[in-house]
Amino acid sequence: MRRHPLTRRDLLLKGVALGSVTVGPALTVSDSLAAWQSEEAAARKPTAWNELGPFYKRKAPSNPNLRQPGDPGLPVSVSGRVFDTKGSALRAAKLEIWQADHQGHYDLDGYRYRATLTAGSSGEYAFTSVMPGHYPARVCQHIHYVVTAPGCKPLTTQLYFATDPVFEGDPARNYTRDPLIQSAGLVRPVTLTGDPKEVVAAVSFEIVLERL
Ligand SMILES: [Fe+2]
Repeated sequence: MRRHPLTRRDLLLKGVALGSVTVGPALTVSDSLAAWQSEEAAARKPTAWNELGPFYKRKAPSNPNLRQPGDPGLPVSVSGRVFDTKGSALRAAKLEIWQADHQGHYDLDGYRYRATLTAGSSGEYAFTSVMPGHYPARVCQHIHYVVTAPGCKPLTTQLYFATDPVFEGDPARNYTRDPLIQSAGLVRPVTLTGDPKEVVAAVSFEIVLERL
C-alpha cells in the first residue's frame, strides 16, 4: 500500500493552502483536524463477555455452512467483522462458533452446528445456520463464540436474537429476562430476507477485542 509521507495536519494545512480543502466559517483548522483524527481513530467498545457454557468442543471444522440442505429450522445468516478497540480490522482472527440445533440439542458426539472460522483481510466473517432452539437450562436462543487474535485478549461471548419470543418484541427493555445477558448489545436485530419459499434471518454481529 502507498504510504503518505505527510501527517494529517500537514495534509490539511497543505490542502487549505492549495484550495483543495475549504474549512467552513464556523470551524477553525484545529477543529477540523480534531474531528478528522477522532473519526480516523474510530474507537470501539469491546464486545461484552458472556460465559462459555458446558458444550464447547475444540477443533471444530472450518466449513462456514453449519446448515445442511434440508435441515429443519429457520435459516440464519450471520456476518460481521472483527476489530480491536482502536477500530483496526483483525485479519485472520479465529472465531469458534457453536450452537444448539433448532430443537435445542447440542451435538456432543460430532460437530454439527460447530465451526472454526478465520476472518478475512478486512476482519470479515460469515456463516449460515439455523435459528438455535431453546433448551431447558437456558432462557434465550443463542450462539456461542470464542474469538482470538494475535496481540488481543481472547473473548468468550454469545449472540442473541431480537426476535426471541422471550423479549416480547422489546429486547432493550426485556433482555434481563435471561439472567446471563449482562449487555443489551449482545442482542442483535434480525432482518428477514430471502423469498417466500425460504425466508432467512440475517444478523450482523461485530466483534471488538481488547489489546493485550
Ligand atoms: Fe448454549
